[in-house]
Amino acid sequence: IAANGDRVFDLTAAASSTEFTPGVATDTWGYNGSYLGPTLVAEQGENVKVNVTNELDEVTTVHWHGMHLPAEMDGGPHSVIEPGALWQPEWTIDQPAATLWYHPHPHEQSEQQTENGLAGMFILQDDAEAALNLPRSYGVDDIPVVVQDRRFDDDGQFDIGVRGYIGAIGDEVLVNGTLGPYLEVTTDVVRLRLLNGSTARTYDFGFDDGREFDLIGTDGGLLEAPVAMDGIRLSAGERAEVLVRVTPGETVTLRSNPPELGTSASAAERNAGADTLDVLELRVADSLTSIGATPTALVESERLDADDATVDRSFTLNGTSINNRQMELSRIDETVEAGATEIWTVDNAMPLPHNFHVHGVHFQVLRVGTDEPTAELRGWKDTIYLEPGKRYELIMRFGEYTDADFPYMYHCHMLAHEDDGMMGQFVVV
Ligand code: C2O
Ligand code: CU
Ligand code: CU
Repeated sequence: IAANGDRVFDLTAAASSTEFTPGVATDTWGYNGSYLGPTLVAEQGENVKVNVTNELDEVTTVHWHGMHLPAEMDGGPHSVIEPGALWQPEWTIDQPAATLWYHPHPHEQSEQQTENGLAGMFILQDDAEAALNLPRSYGVDDIPVVVQDRRFDDDGQFDIGVRGYIGAIGDEVLVNGTLGPYLEVTTDVVRLRLLNGSTARTYDFGFDDGREFDLIGTDGGLLEAPVAMDGIRLSAGERAEVLVRVTPGETVTLRSNPPELGTSASAAERNAGADTLDVLELRVADSLTSIGATPTALVESERLDADDATVDRSFTLNGTSINNRQMELSRIDETVEAGATEIWTVDNAMPLPHNFHVHGVHFQVLRVGTDEPTAELRGWKDTIYLEPGKRYELIMRFGEYTDADFPYMYHCHMLAHEDDGMMGQFVVV
């Protein structure tokens, strides 16, 4: 494969200390410093190499969530990095522009390590995205928004002991590791790359004044065209790119309204489904640079055709297992043929929240129950919320990276559930 160039990144996972509140040192973990890690950026066609050093005193892994790459480079629970060790995955970016992320994936320890602060955004770029008149100045009008809920105890330390069925629930919101965050906006359109980096909570992002925004991308990349909406539900691990229009001198706040979890009201209340949270205040300057007209068409995208699917599989999430089996490192659950188009039907058999994530591939949603997917589920996805009692039909075409021995994962991305065994393994051969 001819590459445009090489990108070498260095990530060191280590214990750290972060002042979320001035003068109060919270014990955290992070990559290359305090809480969280750097945003990594790479272009389609580039060779990427990462030097990951583990300076923690326990094992970790780094998983590239949403990346199409060989299973051995994917950073799942088999890619253990011992304390003091160096792991050097290498791959070529062979997928479109998208907002991805990275986080630890060690067997049964993903929730704790991610809660401590190990996570970061991974932005992919390509020519098609670059040719569009979209805000593209990182940190100016193209803004990473890593949203996490946390709870602090009286000593200012993380308290993940307050739990719902979904896992640790926080009562405060961090954006990119900042409490009470605001953004000074200097352009009339701003692009927010929303990442639900929480381990459990589902958000429904919108604005305090109810204004509409344009959804331009989902987990796997840009949509064919922007879709106007006033709220988007994102469960743990999901991403959305949105464009927001602002007027000079105003203040408008990105917030999370109570998400539709599809559960009873009392189950929703116990599982972070009843909260309204302010997420990010946009403080708009008195005079703004104009982005100009944003595109009404984005990228061409193939719709996968159910007639091309050669294999159907079904997955039922129940208890702490999928299809009545709990994660077993030594057991391969599914074997997929390289390049195959498959339909995966996924059911949440419980009256409680779950979601579903597949490694190494993106899918399209064919049906939710008997309905066509809503606009927010029309694009390429790798993670999807599962409302109880609804059947999700997902279509995906697997890549060409084969390895009969080294598996990819599928699992609930509520990380406590993943740690409890709600995960399975597939190989591509
Ligand atoms: Cu974001 Cu298997 O993980
Ligand atoms: Cu993943
Ligand atoms: Cu779950």
